Amino acid sequence: SIPVIVDCDPGHDDAVALWLAAGHPALDLLAVTTVGGNVPLEHTSRNARIVLSVAGVEGVPVAAGAAGPLARELVTAEWIHGANGLGGPELPEPTIPLDPRPAAELMADTLEASAEPVAIIATGPITNVAVLLRDRPDLAPRIREIVWMGGSTERGNATPYAEFNALVDPEALALVLSSGIRFTMVGLNVTHLALVTPSVRAGLAAAGTRTAAFGDELLDFFCRTNAEVFGMPDGPLHDPVAVAVLADPGCVRLRRTRLDVELAGTETLGATSVDFDGMLGREPNAWVAVDLDVERFWAGVVDAVSRLA
Ligand code: BDR
Ligand code: CA
Repeated sequence: SIPVIVDCDPGHDDAVALWLAAGHPALDLLAVTTVGGNVPLEHTSRNARIVLSVAGVEGVPVAAGAAGPLARELVTAEWIHGANGLGGPELPEPTIPLDPRPAAELMADTLEASAEPVAIIATGPITNVAVLLRDRPDLAPRIREIVWMGGSTERGNATPYAEFNALVDPEALALVLSSGIRFTMVGLNVTHLALVTPSVRAGLAAAGTRTAAFGDELLDFFCRTNAEVFGMPDGPLHDPVAVAVLADPGCVRLRRTRLDVELAGTETLGATSVDFDGMLGREPNAWVAVDLDVERFWAGVVDAVSRLA
């Protein structure tokens, strides 16, 4: 199985991403790190511990990282995820402690301790990964690849052309893209295929586990806020699609391309520039997800959730 670190800002879809990473037999979840994003860092760090506690995932260290972006003020998304970031269910006390190390240090220790290169899956603003690469460039060869949920080949969801995770910390994204490490962007153009339809919800609930029941309450809230904010009652469950790229590569189609991020636009800050046609004449530097086998994706999520507590 592939050793992975998940860097996240839970967040409803981050929660399901964590469960997919913890429950999928093709992945070995070594560590979880958190970043300020959907809600401030205190909440995302506590939420990651709650989400793993509910699923009975013990022994995976959870460490808190950057409270905000490299060079900007944090923008949050309470309107989708609720004031505490996991709106819906009553939240239990986490049974998992917070690791005292900063996220980048836990990542570094994990990379150094692993016999094989470790993949990093990032499902929030990519600040922590940027901090790691900035402070420990020597560890780049220990990173198998980076898969990130964010960006889009098309329009945005936080501004007309910027996706939320890209908008929050575009400088971090630019830094990671310049590292030369294999990078895959899983953007809105595919995550908008991962819709939480009534039948998806029924299938997940039927897994019958404590995790599934907690997840159903999360999804109920998430679908309501997506209906209010975006007019999408079948909310798109973005983050687990990034996990699926590694867990079940056959379910996401990738395309090699040049990828850049807008750092200076007056209207388009954080927009991802995906040069499929090579108009800019630059070397390709990334893989971009372009299609999702929706049925297969959800089957993997249900299977993972049914393996957890
Ligand atoms: C991304 O933004 C967050 O609200 C979600 O958790 C996801 O990572 C989607 O734009
Ligand atoms: Ca997220």
